[in-house]
Amino acid sequence: MSAPRRPWLISRVGRKTFVGAGVVSGLIVVTVILSVLGGGESAIFDPAAIDTSGLDGETLFAASCARCHGSNLQGSQFGPPLLDDIYRPAHHPDAAFISAVRIGVRSHHWSFGNMPPIADLSDRELAAIIQFIREIQEDAGVE
Ligand code: HEC
Repeated sequence: MSAPRRPWLISRVGRKTFVGAGVVSGLIVVTVILSVLGGGESAIFDPAAIDTSGLDGETLFAASCARCHGSNLQGSQFGPPLLDDIYRPAHHPDAAFISAVRIGVRSHHWSFGNMPPIADLSDRELAAIIQFIREIQEDAGVE
């Protein structure tokens, strides 16, 4: 095996890739921070620890999520059933729900397309929605 004739070419390509990856991950971090700050809400919180008294998770879910996920989480032509086993807490913890709503979801498990970020929900409202989803999941044995 002889050494590559122009080794500097390899290292230049390597450096470009490295810088490129740095720029891309930097942009992702900035986007995430901006989208979270833009909503004026904290990034990740524990929905179970939030006082949601006076809020009705079912009504909030119906207004913001049901047109794609179905009023009973059964899914629709626009989105997957949140009763699917992959959405159980061990596989999609509450943080995944918060991130889905705040940042959106790039289509990866299904072929419905991307989920857009859902605007105008406070942390308390989102907590009430997640509590509602977990209740229905539990009733359906998705836990
Ligand atoms: C415009 C349609 C639409 C609306 C409205 C919508 N979703 Fe989604 N959601 C989707 C689609 C499509 C996917 C599946 C993406 C994929 O292929 O994995 C998804 C996936 C998810 C996931 C899984 C995220 C992951 O990490 O895989 C969660 C959790 C979720 N939605 C919660 C919600 C909640 C809560 C609301 C209401 C606040 C909501 N969605 C509103 C379309 C929607």
